[in-house]
Amino acid sequence: MTPEFLCLLCLGLCLGYEDEKKNEKLPKPSLHAWPSLVVEAQSNVTLKCQAPCQNVTFVLCKVNDSAYKQEQISTENEAEFLLTDLKLKDAGSYFCAYKTTASHEWSESSEHLQLVITDKHDELEAPSMKTVAHVCNPRTSGR
Ligand SMILES: *[C@@H]1O[C@H](CO)[C@@H](O)[C@H](O)[C@H]1NC(C)=O
Ligand SMILES: *[C@@H]1O[C@H](CO)[C@@H](O)[C@H](O)[C@H]1NC(C)=O
Ligand SMILES: *[C@@H]1O[C@H](CO)[C@@H](O)[C@H](O)[C@H]1NC(C)=O
Repeated sequence: MTPEFLCLLCLGLCLGYEDEKKNEKLPKPSLHAWPSLVVEAQSNVTLKCQAPCQNVTFVLCKVNDSAYKQEQISTENEAEFLLTDLKLKDAGSYFCAYKTTASHEWSESSEHLQLVITDKHDELEAPSMKTVAHVCNPRTSGR
């Protein structure tokens, strides 16, 4: 779908012309992670959800964790969910959705984002760069 089409569709839905489109859900938002989808334990990540409309209520959900739900009301077309002090158990798939004042239902869900939490321990135990340069000494090759 072109951005223009999405925009028109959204405008119609945002303004509440819902009669013609009763069964049509709002187009899905996009979800991005900053600075990265792979983050160290105890650090932070921002999940930014962007909708094609302004003045919407955003929700961030986690796959297979129905207890996890964060809502944010925004006068812009995006919301930033800051996840701090990440634990290994925070890894998993996240997605967002939004609703406008005119739409009483949530939009389609965004793509799922797979968040990976790395344990700092792993890195400390990663193979070191010790050299093995002394194995070969050309001067010992005798005659
Ligand atoms: C994570 O966010 C918290 C709260 O905003 C802040 O105090 C902390 O310094 C941040 N940690 C990192 C590693 O950026
Ligand atoms: C969003 O809401 C604010 C405050 O209610 C209003 O001033 C603004 O015009 C609204 N914007 C849109 C695009 O509806
Ligand atoms: C969610 O749960 C289903 C069924 O238990 C499982 O097949 C799926 O892999 C899980 N998805 C995630 C992202 O954990």
